[in-house]
Amino acid sequence: MPADTAFMEKLVALCKRRGFIYQSSEIYGGIGGFWDYGPLGVELKRNIKDLWWHDMVTNPPDGPDGREIQMVGLDCSIIMNPKVWEASGHVSGFQDPMVECKQCKGRFRADQVATTPCPLKPSKMVGQHDKCQLTEPRLFNLMNKTFVGALEDTSSVAYLRPETAQGIFVNFKNVLDTTRVKLPFGIAQIGKSFRNEINPRNYTFRSREFEQMEIEFFCKKATERRSDEATKGEVTDMEWYQFWRNVRHQWYIRYGLKSDKLRLRDQGPEELAHYSKACADIEYLFPFSDEFQELEGVAHRGNFDLTQHAKFSGVDLTYFDDEAWQADQAKYPPEQHKEIKNQEPYRFLPTVIEPSAGVDRSALAFLCEAYTEDQAPDEKGQPQPRVVLKFHPKLAPIKVAVFPLVNREGMPDIAAAIYRDLKKHMTAFFDDKGAIGRRYRRQDEVGTPFCITVDGQTLQDGTVTIRDRDSLAQCRVHKEHVLAWLRERLG
Ligand code: GAP
Repeated sequence: MPADTAFMEKLVALCKRRGFIYQSSEIYGGIGGFWDYGPLGVELKRNIKDLWWHDMVTNPPDGPDGREIQMVGLDCSIIMNPKVWEASGHVSGFQDPMVECKQCKGRFRADQVATTPCPLKPSKMVGQHDKCQLTEPRLFNLMNKTFVGALEDTSSVAYLRPETAQGIFVNFKNVLDTTRVKLPFGIAQIGKSFRNEINPRNYTFRSREFEQMEIEFFCKKATERRSDEATKGEVTDMEWYQFWRNVRHQWYIRYGLKSDKLRLRDQGPEELAHYSKACADIEYLFPFSDEFQELEGVAHRGNFDLTQHAKFSGVDLTYFDDEAWQADQAKYPPEQHKEIKNQEPYRFLPTVIEPSAGVDRSALAFLCEAYTEDQAPDEKGQPQPRVVLKFHPKLAPIKVAVFPLVNREGMPDIAAAIYRDLKKHMTAFFDDKGAIGRRYRRQDEVGTPFCITVDGQTLQDGTVTIRDRDSLAQCRVHKEHVLAWLRERLG
């Protein structure tokens, strides 16, 4: 499918016009790769993060063996000891190839020149003008540097984290020591990450500041499983990998990415990091490109990160499987206990499965999928074009809007009372300005699933009209039952 730039232009305009996404520091001309979320965007993002946290942390699905999964959360600092990034490999290896143009002084990702617009006119891609003078590629580290403390010298250099994952690994021992979690278990974190992308582009898709939702799921590697009766049926690391791969794919479908624009792609062996057994990307066909792009990666990371942090910090990060040891210790002579219990399969570095998602990319995919142009009848019953964001109700920034049909006969007071009652339970909006058809269309455009109108009949029998955003069907519900009616449909 070719890239649909017209679609993107319409979506970007809508996001600006209705307060979803603004350019950061716009009144100063903006700053490349940074975005602000407006009043509706912030609600959309909050809904995405709340649903992820609810579905993955507070109420995760049962594991492949039907048992409850243990999940806990963290909120780590953005700036960490710089040794973290040496251990993780980011200082030496988190880099992209960059070329510079001696003509326009632009800097571009070497692997993306063919799809990056050249600043020179007429419009062409980088390197396609006769005047372009590209240098040989050199590697550019993507971590944002800063200084901690009063001195700005090499001893005070620190980094803004390029991923939330490392905060989880370096707190692995803290979590083990302060909670009752036992393998298998997951630690989750949502937070800001920063990458000094050479060419931030495609709206919020590739930004320099973004939010991630990451899980590090710690489990036993298959070879560490004991063969005795007690552990038969234990879930293997590859089964956990498959489990998370599928759970995460289904999560996007559940909240509306139902079209064939969503796909799950297993990485080929040549794409895998040297420590990784498997990795799958959940991808979306965004309108700005004719190729699928990554929304989330689900990676089998082995015990690479814990090994590195144990090595660089000198702290023992192994897990002791007390249950397995208690079950087996009688098999060994007592004088060997001390030695054997501190070896595999009783003490080891757990294997990690990492589902790593981006909040901003999810928000953009949900916006793209929801954006629809169709027709709705006006006050005279004539079909009129409308723009509607068909969000899943749980993602919709506003759940319900309440209108008085006219601003007289006590209708505004009744509508205001309904609105005040509903906003205690959900994001609600009150609107008494303009023709009713325009008020509906304004709500359609921001994806409000239900609109309630107080009209003449309300004055007689206490019922209101509730209009469904997608089907346009209208029904009458008594005003006392509106909350229950909405709760049933919003979940
Ligand atoms: N801990 C693993 C990790 O960070 P990643 O594939 O580099 O893996 C995970 O990032 C997710 O973070 C991506 O799938 C994407 O959703 C989001 N992400 C990464 N870089 C981004 C950027 N520059 N702008 C917006 N989102 C980004």
